Amino acid sequence: MLPLFVAEMDFELAPAVSQALYDAIERSDTGYAWPPALREIFSRYAKNCFDWTVPAERVFVVNDVMGGVTETLRALTQPGDGVAIMPPVYPPFFEIVRTAERHVVEVELLRDGMQYAINWDGLERAFARHAKALLLCHPHNPVGHVFARAELERLAALARSYGVLVISDEIHAPLVYPGAAHVPFVMVAEPQGIDSVTLMSASKGWNIAGLKCAQMIAGSSRVHERFKQLPADVTDRIGHLGVIATAAAYADGSSWLRTTLNRLDENRRLLATLLARQLPQIGYGVPDATYLAWLDCRALDLGDDPAQAFIDRGKVALSHGPDFGAAGRGFTRFNFATTPEIISEAVSRMALSA
Ligand SMILES: Cc1ncc(COP(=O)(O)O)c(C=O)c1O
Repeated sequence: MLPLFVAEMDFELAPAVSQALYDAIERSDTGYAWPPALREIFSRYAKNCFDWTVPAERVFVVNDVMGGVTETLRALTQPGDGVAIMPPVYPPFFEIVRTAERHVVEVELLRDGMQYAINWDGLERAFARHAKALLLCHPHNPVGHVFARAELERLAALARSYGVLVISDEIHAPLVYPGAAHVPFVMVAEPQGIDSVTLMSASKGWNIAGLKCAQMIAGSSRVHERFKQLPADVTDRIGHLGVIATAAAYADGSSWLRTTLNRLDENRRLLATLLARQLPQIGYGVPDATYLAWLDCRALDLGDDPAQAFIDRGKVALSHGPDFGAAGRGFTRFNFATTPEIISEAVSRMALSA
């Protein structure tokens, strides 16, 4: 079986990250985490990469992005509140809202071919009726869309009209290809007086998800005040090695990231070439960010869950489209953060099973 579903990369770690981890082990430095320095390092990274000025005290270090989303929902919304999400979207978004005892309000993205856009009317209806928060996936997993400044401004204006909190999951922000630019939502929201929370992490960009460290950034003074009252265990349950690796990635990992983005850029195009040649029935919009390709397989007639056919017949494991919501029926997600040889092999296996 060729596994191409979990969002991890097949690449070697950034030397700065592995050296920092080796050094910690050499020192037998495996006690509890001590994150204050990471807040400063994050601030510098945010300024360098996104021209975003973040006061270090607004940065809360948490165990992972989804943990940060849960704590935000608990701290800033009420049980039973509606939380809007825009499927097709990262499957745990559905689950996490329910775990926090809020309810999911689905506002599907609009699809035009393989281009996706926000359903503005649907979102306004959701905000007007029952959604008290929006869980934004920016850049968007699985469709690979990087919301442009104009879209973010319109979103912020809508959120302000209805007093909606925006929780912006920006875990894929380091993985934006040349041609697109990542604008943190808070940069347009805070000037408009909107409450927002940004979740970032080095876990996708530098492939260290298992080390457990993410950043939750208060996007207004009101949110900041609320976060200061979070129970200590929220910020205590982080991995020490995660803090060390994250600090190394943000401070010294930029050249590795550039090289990695070049590899991924070639891979996203290679996949387009291979699909055009061997499986032209599949729809593929080359993503502007992430190493995830969202594939429309409906013309192959493999049913709602083409990934199952590829697993059963081709021994290639992609993500199940319906897990991303009803809009994912007939679709599958392909992780191309691997070698060109494996991508080729996977497409050949898919072609044989179609
Ligand atoms: C959009 C998005 N958010 C969150 C996560 C998971 O992040 P964490 O492991 O930090 O909870 C992923 C993982 O792929 C993701 O794609």
